[in-house]
Amino acid sequence: MSSITSIKAREILDSRGNPTVEVDLFTKQTCQSASVPSGASTGRHEAVELRDGGKRFLGKGVQKAIKNVEQRISPLLKGVDCFEQRKIDEMMIRKDGTKNKSKFGANAVLGVSLAAARAANAEKKKFLFQHLAEISGVDRKPSMPRPFFNVINGGKHAGNKLAFQEFMIAPKAKTFAEALRMGSEVYHVLKEVIEKKYGKEAINVGDEGGFAPPLQRAEEALDLIQEAIRKAGYAGKIEIALDCAASEFYTKGKYVLQAKMSKERLLDYYLHLIKKYPIISIEDPFEQEDFESFADLRKRSRIQIVGDDLTVTNVTRIKKAIQKKSCNCLLLKVNQIGTLTEAFDAVKMAYENGWKVMVSHRSGETEDTFIADLAVAIGCGMIKAGAPCRGERIAKYNRLLRIEEVLRRK
Ligand code: PGA
Ligand code: ZN
Repeated sequence: MSSITSIKAREILDSRGNPTVEVDLFTKQTCQSASVPSGASTGRHEAVELRDGGKRFLGKGVQKAIKNVEQRISPLLKGVDCFEQRKIDEMMIRKDGTKNKSKFGANAVLGVSLAAARAANAEKKKFLFQHLAEISGVDRKPSMPRPFFNVINGGKHAGNKLAFQEFMIAPKAKTFAEALRMGSEVYHVLKEVIEKKYGKEAINVGDEGGFAPPLQRAEEALDLIQEAIRKAGYAGKIEIALDCAASEFYTKGKYVLQAKMSKERLLDYYLHLIKKYPIISIEDPFEQEDFESFADLRKRSRIQIVGDDLTVTNVTRIKKAIQKKSCNCLLLKVNQIGTLTEAFDAVKMAYENGWKVMVSHRSGETEDTFIADLAVAIGCGMIKAGAPCRGERIAKYNRLLRIEEVLRRK
């Protein structure tokens, strides 16, 4: 037993230079911190990220969330055992009282939830993934995830005209370290390929560290990636995944890509791409309310269909997607729901229904590496944390390198 004595919070900046919440949670024995990421292409049904409005930071300040941590959540949780993760999370949910954490802010609540897990772990003197595996209630052994590197950025994460948000490469390798090396090599070859074809001004990177060349059609991005994979010597050893984030290019009943498309035409377009390229996974292929089109693609393509904006790590939405057979994989983002306990519940529901799970960063990240341990702890086998470039992305991948060493030693 180790009671929480107080909780402090501060405003720090995320990888886009916007404010976000960092929490320090104190017990008698330790002080542990956690910081909160932030999305750009957020789903309509995500828990609410509290922002101050007004002039400071162009309205994006998080001082209200900080105040909620220090003046409302800290007194609420004072004296509660940091080992009681579910109790801590449920007390915050109850006191917030809203369906989407809009009173305290999911950014306030999540910071506390993650810092509490770290505090309990610090007292156990274990690695965080071991503690998370023990409290998750998930019946799987910890294991290393396969990384999905987002090497070409589009959509809301880049200043180009690509409608699809993420073009990812997923190496098939025996170890995480090998997969990271393969990803890094292809990333650098891709840089050369892009420069040769589109010039030096085309090798700037987007929010998640992937290149953001001035492309419009998905085929152009896929061809560049295929060429880079081939030139790096990994043909057949690296597969491709997409996150279309389709809600972002959906307006007035149509999907606006290089042409305006109906959902039926977009479905045919996906089937065409899947036939032409080694695409093994597509996330958010349709807008966030269209459970049916997701199901059509899942049925007709037989590849992995991932729910992100559709399911928002929320068991109510996941249940609906299960009933409608919309997906076969859950994208897990802890800040979409706001507590670790609810994220674990989402994982359990996904596993119990035969779905896979992919742990995910947000486009606005911090140097916090919590999700690396989380992916290992739940044994889900997949993580996406951006390109093998930019410190806030690399922090997660480097953490995974260290965890792989720990697992090998055992
Ligand atoms: P976001 O993008 O963090 O900007 O929401 C990531 C994703 O859509 O998977
Ligand atoms: Zn997504």
